[in-house]
Amino acid sequence: LLSVESVSKSYPENPVLESVSLGMDSRDRIGVIGRNGSGKSTLLRLIAGVEEVDSGQIIRSSGIRVSALVQDPTFDQGVSVHDVLGDDRRAIATADRLGVTSGPVDVMSGGQKKRLALAVALSTECDLLILDEPTNHLDVETIDWLEDHLVNRSSGLLLVTHDRYLLDRVATRIVEVHEKDLYSHDGTYEDYLTERGRRDALEVASEHRRKQLLRTELEWLRRSPKARTTKAQYRVDRAKELAAAPGRRPPRVLEVDLPSRRIGSKVVDLDNVSKRFGDRTVLCDVTLKLSPDARVGMVGPIGAGKTTLLRLLDGRLEPDAGSVEMGTTIATGWYGQDPRSINPGTRVIDAVREVAEHTKLESGVKVSAGQLLERFMFDRGIQSAAVGELSGGERRRLELLLVLMEAPNFLILDEPTNDLDLDTLAILEEYLDGWAGALVVATHDRYFLNRVCDVVMSIEPTGTLRHHPGGWTEYWEMHKTSKSSASKPSGSKKRSPSQSSTPSKLTVTYNDKKEFKSLAAKIRQLESEKARLSAQLECVGTDYSEATRLAEALGDVTDELESAETRWLELAERIEAAG
Ligand SMILES: Nc1ncnc2c1ncn2[C@@H]1O[C@H](COP(=O)(O)OP(=O)(O)OP(=O)(O)O)[C@@H](O)[C@H]1O
Ligand SMILES: [Mg+2]
Repeated sequence: LLSVESVSKSYPENPVLESVSLGMDSRDRIGVIGRNGSGKSTLLRLIAGVEEVDSGQIIRSSGIRVSALVQDPTFDQGVSVHDVLGDDRRAIATADRLGVTSGPVDVMSGGQKKRLALAVALSTECDLLILDEPTNHLDVETIDWLEDHLVNRSSGLLLVTHDRYLLDRVATRIVEVHEKDLYSHDGTYEDYLTERGRRDALEVASEHRRKQLLRTELEWLRRSPKARTTKAQYRVDRAKELAAAPGRRPPRVLEVDLPSRRIGSKVVDLDNVSKRFGDRTVLCDVTLKLSPDARVGMVGPIGAGKTTLLRLLDGRLEPDAGSVEMGTTIATGWYGQDPRSINPGTRVIDAVREVAEHTKLESGVKVSAGQLLERFMFDRGIQSAAVGELSGGERRRLELLLVLMEAPNFLILDEPTNDLDLDTLAILEEYLDGWAGALVVATHDRYFLNRVCDVVMSIEPTGTLRHHPGGWTEYWEMHKTSKSSASKPSGSKKRSPSQSSTPSKLTVTYNDKKEFKSLAAKIRQLESEKARLSAQLECVGTDYSEATRLAEALGDVTDELESAETRWLELAERIEAAG
């Protein structure tokens, strides 16, 4: 498909890639991993051809078509969703599946823009698909759909993601960007981790041997001063050599160790809280009492009201009905989806100084802003860089530092895993294990949910909160069963590509074509039904039973539309593949 040959790339005073090479076949699905700021996005941009290499070359097979999703997509000013998607049915259906339907792009949130760009990337015909953090603003169900989609595509794939389950399921090869070089490992992410574990163990062992040897030599030196003169000169030399050898630079890790504060028994009590926006009821009769050691995960589809609930918990938002009472000892730390507004020209070090010049760590040690940044893996060089030059993940890591510096005892995390690299995530998860405060997190990261949360709660279409004491797995099982039992017997099943009852992917029967045609009509009809119900729901006012009925009907129609669209896309792909 393509080959990258001795490519180098640097930004002013910042070499990112040095003479790297990589070959890619048409069926390769490569997962690109590496620390935040290591150069993953840079590599993807070079391969996509949106940025030029400094030296070396990238050879693409003739005529290959590339479709790419960048990490932070931007659109021309003043365009609408329709301008972006055009009349292409597949693009429209994909966008709809991702929860983007219409309207001006300028007013859309970062998440909506990303989903719109993802819809375009997925529906553009190509031989190589490049995706930089596609799951950032999706919900669990859509990620599941994306997984299926990627596994069933026939194009090559180059993927950067922090979603460990997605990576493990989709990638057939892992490429690690590390210290300006690339390391390729055949196999899944799990295979890669096993191999890395073995490699680390070897390195630790040889480092241990080196230290051992050094110690013996030193002891020997001290014990026999006379011997240093003549015949044992070689031992002296060797001891010096060993001492001078830099040793393997230990892999840098994030050191969190930030200050904490005591927490009383009351965190936040929500009592029969409801919240409406316009006439849409987002939350309805929510009652929730958080304990000081709570580890709660919030899940729900895009737009279900997760962030709204978090804002109510934090006191940023007032409820329309019911009460929110916060304990007196509570200091909230808010780590949200949209970055706090820091002037992009501000230097990294100044952003930290604005919060505090010095910080007292949990261990009692007092550190300066610069030292604190170093513990968070921002070297001296990058500390004087402007915030606007940071990579996506570096920016998120800085944000996390600013939040934790203030010693919160109640952490509210809204999609905390977005853009963070896998090593940093592992450290954050471990830190949260031992963290002595309450935690509420809204996330689509299935791994993080399983790892960190004891309780999972979902926001239902009616706006109520449902507890899942068995955690995410229980929620997911329940969600899937309720979906499949709700779908009409004549309706197509969502996971059909992997089911034996469906014909092989490459044959298209007469019935397929017939179904394809009738689906288009059905989708149109469902779309207008959905629009009608949404409009009704918006004007229903305070009549809760009517609102509930409408919301349920809307949920059903949306589900049906979703499976019709999924089926339509599948058939479209098959018909196309068959020519
Ligand atoms: N336009 C730019 N100007 C200056 N420096 C840049 C620019 N783009 C990227 N960099 C720097 O180049 C390095 C690599 O950035 P890149 O975005 O490729 O990293 P990444 O691996 O994708 O990180 P992340 O995981 O955070 O997305 C970073 O140190 C970043 O600060
Ligand atoms: Mg990146």
